[in-house]
Amino acid sequence: MNAPEDTAPLLAVEDLVVDYRLHRKLRLRALKGVSITVGRGECVGLVGESGSGKSTLGKAVLGLAAVTSGRISFDGEDITHARGAARRRLANDIQVVFQDPYGSLDPTMTVGEVLAEPLLVAGTKRAQAGAVVAEMLDRVRLPTDAVHRYPSEFSGGQRQRIAIARALVRRPRLIVCDEPVSALDLTTQATILDLFIDLQRETGVAYLFVSHDLGVVRRICHRVSVMYQGEIVESGPTRTVAHEPTHPYTRRLLLAAPVADPVRQAERRATWLGLRDSA
Ligand SMILES: Nc1ncnc2c1ncn2[C@@H]1O[C@H](COP(=O)(O)OP(=O)(O)O)[C@@H](O)[C@H]1O
Ligand SMILES: [Mg+2]
Repeated sequence: MNAPEDTAPLLAVEDLVVDYRLHRKLRLRALKGVSITVGRGECVGLVGESGSGKSTLGKAVLGLAAVTSGRISFDGEDITHARGAARRRLANDIQVVFQDPYGSLDPTMTVGEVLAEPLLVAGTKRAQAGAVVAEMLDRVRLPTDAVHRYPSEFSGGQRQRIAIARALVRRPRLIVCDEPVSALDLTTQATILDLFIDLQRETGVAYLFVSHDLGVVRRICHRVSVMYQGEIVESGPTRTVAHEPTHPYTRRLLLAAPVADPVRQAERRATWLGLRDSA
């Protein structure tokens, strides 16, 4: 018989409600009872148009958005309202990569300092931290001498590699990826997505992968949930959702993803316009 922690998913979000306070009496319900799970070593996509609540869900998992009701558990432990020391401890297990590697990397620190900081904060000795930093640079395919350089000396894609390495240094079990390739050109997107896939194979880390682009999610995620106006309207294996979407909104998202063939693109555009008008 397994203990409950062994059978519980790595991350379980149950019936989560998040309200933002706009004014003294005015609240905006950004999440209206959302449930989602992520298994160990799994990649679960969260897709939906801008404003649907994807980042809010990521923030709630990271403890950056206050939860009105519902429950978030990690490895069987309730972390819904984890604060202070408990939340800091969770940084060993749950990390994040944001869309904008410019805003999320301190330009005054060298890459070596950026990567060592989360380890030094956690009490790791400097020499040990240096070894982990070198290992992670290697994992994200950056040269070892990057430690002496500044984030501004790197391209957007390389900067995102630095942000990914920083998320990895504490060897987390889950990374919340919030639109991590959305600011990159298509070729760079593809190489960074391949990197995410390789890292998952090599380290067994799980991803909650947020994107407005179903095309991106289709390349990397095992399962996907589709979010619309603060609710999940469809979930399932990526293959099923991407090939046989049941919800009209998912069909629209699917048709909005770019394809290389101009003739197919024109056909899809016609279908998309039809769906939009009938919605
Ligand atoms: N800090 C905030 N204060 C008030 N409203 C917010 C805040 N953050 C997001 N919102 C609102 O919550 C809704 C969901 O936003 P968000 O989670 O950022 O969506 P997405 O990531 O899917 O674009 C939107 O209507 C947005 O305007
Ligand atoms: Mg967002």
